[in-house]
Amino acid sequence: MMAALLLLLLGCSSFPGLLTVQINQRPIIGILAQETLDLYRYGKTYIAAPYVKYLESAGCRVVPIRLNLTHEEYERIFHSINGILFPGGAGNLKTSAFAKAAKTFYELALKAFDAGDHFPIWGTCLGLQLLTMFTAGKDLLINTDTENIALPLNLTNAAASSKMFWDFPPDVYKALSTEPLTGNFHHFSISVQAFLEDEKLSKFYSILSTNNDRKSVEFVSTMEARKNFHHFPSSEEEAAALIYNYSPRYVPTSDYIQIYFF
Ligand SMILES: *[C@@H]1O[C@H](CO)[C@@H](O)[C@H](O)[C@H]1NC(C)=O
Ligand SMILES: *[C@@H]1O[C@H](CO)[C@@H](O)[C@H](O)[C@H]1NC(C)=O
Repeated sequence: MMAALLLLLLGCSSFPGLLTVQINQRPIIGILAQETLDLYRYGKTYIAAPYVKYLESAGCRVVPIRLNLTHEEYERIFHSINGILFPGGAGNLKTSAFAKAAKTFYELALKAFDAGDHFPIWGTCLGLQLLTMFTAGKDLLINTDTENIALPLNLTNAAASSKMFWDFPPDVYKALSTEPLTGNFHHFSISVQAFLEDEKLSKFYSILSTNNDRKSVEFVSTMEARKNFHHFPSSEEEAAALIYNYSPRYVPTSDYIQIYFF
């Protein structure tokens, strides 16, 4: 669902080390393997090499995470790596060994976050679809006409300050929203409507970009978990609380030149 190009390296080098306060300049990121479908004769599970390359190009080292390990084994890996990538592909979102292992890491990451620890999870395509399922607790995906189409991103207001995009060079940021730089190879999407109607999803993630499929169905193309859950109870209350409801006065005798008065 999310374009591979977006992985662009975003500060893999800023993933914190887990057990040490020293900055880990060469973090280790896990990539979750998936069940092989049509290339079974080569092996039962696989990781597409481009995922390894793009993490490496950001300065990470990669650990493959095999399927069907025990919970204890996954927990040990979880405490040994700095983040995990759920790749795109195909597979059952509920019953595959891929989905089950991904859920284990998702739950461990939530638990770690509650304890003040950070464990970044990146989901591309099927990986992103899985994340919407884990968070919503149900499958909200719909069929979209989004196979083999390159699109510019319709970036939302939340994008510029997001962890994903804040330090993009301005020309790259602009190009992302004006040129068809993101590849879409998916038959399912989370529509903007379903996203907004689901309270769990809309509380947990901010939409960073949307796109229209060939039939003008608007879907979420990039989203990011919120850093915390504090928010105004409604968008009306939020709008009413913002300082933009007020105008500063020009006070030439003041050191501040302009001041808000209430
Ligand atoms: C994982 O375990 C299931 C159930 O035992 C089995 O059917 C499947 O082949 C295993 N998959 C892999 C990749 O080992
Ligand atoms: C961006 O949003 C507009 C308005 O909804 C839509 O018409 C357009 O197709 C979208 N662009 C892309 C590339 O999805």
